Amino acid sequence: MTTSAAFPADFLWGGATAANQIEGAAQEGGKGLSTSDFARFVPPMADGSVIDFTFDATSHQVEAALVGEDDPQTLYPKRHGIDFYHRFRDDIALFGELGFGVFRMSISWARIFPTGFEEEPNEEGLAFYDQVFDELLARGIRPLVTLSHYEMPIEISRRLDGWLSRETIGLFERFARTVFERYADKVKMWITFNEMNMNLTSVYTGAGVFPDRVAGRELQAAYQATHHQFLAAAKVVAMGHEMMPDAQIGCMICRLETYAATCKPEDVMRATHEDNLNLFYPDVQVRGEYPTYMNRYFAEKGITIVTEPGDDDILRAGTADFISISYYMTYLAEDRPDADDISGSLVSKLKNPHLELSAWGWPVDPVGLRIALNKLWGRYGKPLYVVENGLGAVDTVAEDGAIHDDYRIDYLRKHLLQVREAIADGVDVRGYTWWGPIDLVSCSTSQMTKRYGFIHVDQDDYGRGTLARTKKDSFAWYQRVIATNGAALDSDD
Ligand code: BG6
Repeated sequence: MTTSAAFPADFLWGGATAANQIEGAAQEGGKGLSTSDFARFVPPMADGSVIDFTFDATSHQVEAALVGEDDPQTLYPKRHGIDFYHRFRDDIALFGELGFGVFRMSISWARIFPTGFEEEPNEEGLAFYDQVFDELLARGIRPLVTLSHYEMPIEISRRLDGWLSRETIGLFERFARTVFERYADKVKMWITFNEMNMNLTSVYTGAGVFPDRVAGRELQAAYQATHHQFLAAAKVVAMGHEMMPDAQIGCMICRLETYAATCKPEDVMRATHEDNLNLFYPDVQVRGEYPTYMNRYFAEKGITIVTEPGDDDILRAGTADFISISYYMTYLAEDRPDADDISGSLVSKLKNPHLELSAWGWPVDPVGLRIALNKLWGRYGKPLYVVENGLGAVDTVAEDGAIHDDYRIDYLRKHLLQVREAIADGVDVRGYTWWGPIDLVSCSTSQMTKRYGFIHVDQDDYGRGTLARTKKDSFAWYQRVIATNGAALDSDD
């Protein structure tokens, strides 16, 4: 039997973003402040390049949010984004030029319900997304919309401790019902939550919970908040299916593919354990129930999830239609006394000698993407989308204004070749959206210098610049890959 290494004719090519990293206009159009509007800039290291990647910035976010600190706005780059709010027409024109078939974006909850508690939505916010969707559709680009991507109205965090409260589920349902009703004709592909598993890394970013409110019980809080997000996701999927029978509604995880550091069985068992902790999220959202391996984990960690009668039915009634992943790197697991401490960090302290690191210390592992896709397909048999994959790098603008980002092309080519291999392996991968087709504000550090785009945005870390958009070398390259449905991957240029 032969298999051809090719992308299916209807493969969806595109790019991915999140509202809080591109829109700006934090207090325009009736929008309320979001948790992400309090994310502060994390200055680069003295040498300007390598950042010790950490979510420690969270504590600053919290202080700022709680005391309403009046710092200069430049310290909060997400409030400005890349001004997509005012420039979306030009940006979408560039996505059209790239040949996108899909554009992943999120809706800012606080643009629709400024505090989260209003009975009626903010019409100006709804009208903004109408225009964005119309612009995309006019260019033949399907919107893939994430309902919750690392932000919520800050008032919900202040009054209810974000997702720690069960009450937040109802507020989220109202938000989801509103946007489903409004955009049912325009949006046929939805994702409920972005990377729920990152609640463990930052309960503020993922669940809107101020860490000092849960000091000493972070793990318990993260899993309790996650339980509420699971219920919210399931309710919204069930509701969405009823309201939009032709729509697909999926879940999304940050896939943490974990290798055993050695072939020692104990290391392999440790890797299996860590893998389970990551697959827990699609296990619940696709299979509709908590997996049994979590019972032991919760017991050993002293975690008790507060539930209500009927929760099991809710989870069963709203399972995801597809699985989407972000994929940036792989991790190593080793059976050692401090294994729990090192496994929680986003960039594992164990270094894989076979992999190179990005400027931000993220191990680059294209084959790991094929492994991840094979594993998810084997475990769930659900359609898969790679909705985030990308390289944050420092770009240099040449004197003539050109940006020669061959390193980005190299990264993209290698990862796409592995997606194609996975498809040849029989995995049902339906789409690929590069993270950050246009430079945007980094989620973790709020930097602009950590650039992902094919399109350069003239703005520095302090918000200075003209915001002009320029095509990098990778623009024409990805354009050719899309135009040839991947065939250009085999050519040398
Ligand atoms: C993903 C997030 O985890 O990683 C994105 O969903 C984020 O929001 C991306 O931007 C890259 O991370 P960073 O910190 O480099 O922006």
